[in-house]
Amino acid sequence: MHNFNSGPSILPKEVMEQAAAAIHDFNGIGLSILEIGHRTSWFGDVMTEARALVKELMNLGDEHEVLFLHGGASTQFMQVPMNLLDSDETAAYIDNGIWGTKAVKEAKLFGNAVIVSSTKDKNHSYIAKDFSVPAGAKYLHYTTNNTVEGTEWHQFPNTDVPLVADMSSDIFSRTFDYSKLALIYAGAQKNMGAAGVNIVVVRKDLLGIKRAIPAIMDYRNHIEAGSLLNTPPVFAVYVALLTLRWIKKEGGLAEMEKRTKERADLFYNTLDSLPAFRALVVKEDRSFMNATFTTIRRELEETFLGLCKQNGMVGVKGHRSVGGLRVSMYNALPLSSVQAITELMKDFSDKNA
Ligand SMILES: Cc1ncc(COP(=O)(O)O)c(C=O)c1O
Repeated sequence: MHNFNSGPSILPKEVMEQAAAAIHDFNGIGLSILEIGHRTSWFGDVMTEARALVKELMNLGDEHEVLFLHGGASTQFMQVPMNLLDSDETAAYIDNGIWGTKAVKEAKLFGNAVIVSSTKDKNHSYIAKDFSVPAGAKYLHYTTNNTVEGTEWHQFPNTDVPLVADMSSDIFSRTFDYSKLALIYAGAQKNMGAAGVNIVVVRKDLLGIKRAIPAIMDYRNHIEAGSLLNTPPVFAVYVALLTLRWIKKEGGLAEMEKRTKERADLFYNTLDSLPAFRALVVKEDRSFMNATFTTIRRELEETFLGLCKQNGMVGVKGHRSVGGLRVSMYNALPLSSVQAITELMKDFSDKNA
C-alpha cells in the first residue's frame, strides 16, 4: 500500500515492528509494554529518553521543558490559553485554516483572543505575511502547517511577541530554529507516532498567571512531575520514542528536510506540468507535507480516486471541509510512493486532459 493519509498516517516500518514486538515482550522483561506500571523504572526510562530526544533533535537548552500530555492537539487549543492567558489579557491569533479557527475560538473562553490575520477571503489558499499585533499581546499563535488547506509557513511570522506554534503536521520535518518559539505543541499522530499523546514544549518563564488552573491542566504540575503526573498514554509515548530514535538514526532533521524536499519537489513539479490537475495553493506557500490539488473537471476527481484505490494508494481524498484531493507526505513516506502516484497522475493526465 502507498499510504498518503493525513493523520493518523504512515509510520516507519521498523517502528511498527518494534512496537509490535514490545506488545509481546517489552525489552525482554517477559511483560508487555501494555501491562507495566507507569511508575516502574522500565517506563520511567522511556519517558526520560523521549523527552531528552525531543530536546536534542530540537537543539533546545534549559529554558524549554518538554512534556508528553494526554489528548490531541485540540486539547492544546484550550490548554495553551488556560495556562498563558489571563482573562484581562490579549492574545493574537493567525487564522490560516480550520485548525487556527478552532484554536482562536477556544482561546476566547479564557481571555481577549483577537484574529490579527485571516486568509479566509481566498479559502486559505495562501499565507498572509503582513499583519500587526496589538501592543502588549501575551503571545501570537499560528499553525506552522495547515494540514487541511495545504499551506505552510516557510519563514517565521514577523513579530516581537512570544510565538506559540501548532506544529502538529510538520514537526520534525525540517531543520528549524525551535528556540525561537515560546511554546510548541503537536498531536503525535503524523511525524511523531501514534495518536493519543501530545508533545508540548514550553519556555518556563512564560508560566505563572493569576487564574486557578485544574491540577491536571496545569503545565507547571506536569513539569514538576516529569510528565508522570498521572497515568500517561504509555503505549503512545513508547511509539513516539521509537519514532524519535528512528529520526535520529536516519540522520536527524537535516536528513528529514532533505527527504521532505525531494518528495515535495517531485510531487509539485509533476503537478505543475500536468494539464489535468490544478494546485489549490499559491506556489510560495505550498505545504511540503500536505499537497492539495484538484482535477480540471470536477467529475474527474472520482475517476482518479478510483484509480488510486485500484493501485493501492490510500488517503488521497481531500478533507471533507475543502474537498478536492490531498497527498500527505510525512517523514516515513518513501520517495517510491511519490514516484508511484506521480506516474499515475501523468498517465491519467495523458488520457483525460
Ligand atoms: C495542524 C493541526 N492542528 C490540530 C489538529 C487537531 O488534532 P487532534 O485531532 O489530535 O485534536 C490537527 C489534526 O489533524 C492538525 O493537523
